Amino acid sequence: MTNSPEYIPGLAGVPAARTSVCYLDGEIGKLQYRGYPIEALSEHCTFEEVSYLLLYGALPTRDELKGFEDALKNERAVDAPLFALLRTLPTDGHPMDALMASVAALGMFYPGDHVTDRDYRFSTAIRLIAKMPTIVAAWHRIRRGEELISPKRELSHAANFLYMLEGNVPSKTAERVFDVALTLHAEHSMNASTFSGRVTGSTLANPHAAIAAAVGTLSGSLHGGANERVLVMLREIEDGSVEGTRRWAEDRLSRKEKIMGFGHREYKVKDPRAVILQKLAVSLFEEMGPTPIYDTALALESAMEDLVGAKGIYPNVDFYSGIVYERLGIPVDLFTPIFAISRVSGWLAHLLEQLEDNRIFRPNQIWTGEADRALVPIDQRG
Ligand code: ACO
Repeated sequence: MTNSPEYIPGLAGVPAARTSVCYLDGEIGKLQYRGYPIEALSEHCTFEEVSYLLLYGALPTRDELKGFEDALKNERAVDAPLFALLRTLPTDGHPMDALMASVAALGMFYPGDHVTDRDYRFSTAIRLIAKMPTIVAAWHRIRRGEELISPKRELSHAANFLYMLEGNVPSKTAERVFDVALTLHAEHSMNASTFSGRVTGSTLANPHAAIAAAVGTLSGSLHGGANERVLVMLREIEDGSVEGTRRWAEDRLSRKEKIMGFGHREYKVKDPRAVILQKLAVSLFEEMGPTPIYDTALALESAMEDLVGAKGIYPNVDFYSGIVYERLGIPVDLFTPIFAISRVSGWLAHLLEQLEDNRIFRPNQIWTGEADRALVPIDQRG
């Protein structure tokens, strides 16, 4: 009998790296970026500060932050040939696919030696964080046959993205809520897309290829794609009353169907990001008016706590993010690209860390096939 290693589906619980980017304890709902609690970061910092922290490992001074914000602003514009490339894509394609293609293409516009040139690595990181929002907003306008809106230098990263979508400068509340949503999604330890980016980076593929791989991985409905599915699902619940929603959930669970926005590989309690987002959603509704879907969401959360809370299935970050984005007037299929424009900071922090002490990923496998088969030439096969 061979002594084969144990197979762990989904590599659950298998450490894939030594890292100092993000600390996560899902048993008690503790999430920290570079050692700072997510609650403090979302209350006191902007997305730009958080991105600096993720990339450089320390919070910036005022001067350092100003330099970083200026560097991002200098990189917001996207080269015309990239827009020309976007214009060749089918307008009914998913924006995540357009984003993945564009990020991969950026590698051709900005070649460099990231293996030996650390400055190129960091300037590429800043370029990707700056340009991805411009690409997402541009694709949205291109597919609708609209004129592109150039970035506005005086606006923050969050406000500028909302501005580039429709040409309206958001209110201070809308800007703040969106900025915090970006912070909350910026990093989350060794999730599938981060792992995928690190694997691609470990081959010394260029950083654009690693981030394009991460974007593709995020697009799946079990990962980033869940946020748009949550909203579609909430809209499907015809009777959004407490009883009606409970009946809907019971019916779905009895058919062994997953309920989007619930459950997490790591968290066995309510995702701390969902707690923060929910409070922000309320502040947004106070300014912009309520949304009926929020009441359905509350009814669903309470029904699910009763039905599957004992199994550790609680709302994850995606449960409330879609409701917030909908209230901000953002189309549903841009929810996952918005996740990507935020998570890119975390992906890059991991990629930079990987490259500092790299070894190519090459896991093992458990063989389940036949061996030593006799090859029958094609004319003799029955
Ligand atoms: N609805 C109903 N039941 C669920 C749910 C859910 N959302 N999530 C897990 N369960 C149940 C499973 O049916 C399973 O039950 P069983 O033991 O009786 O068979 C048990 O909980 C364990 O579920 P797994 O799928 O094995 O858990 P895993 O850790 O592999 O998956 C995942 C985690 C993919 C997030 C899962 O909870 C899920 O599919 N959720 C819905 C999609 C979603 O919201 N994804 C976003 C995740 S957060 C993010 O990516 C930002």
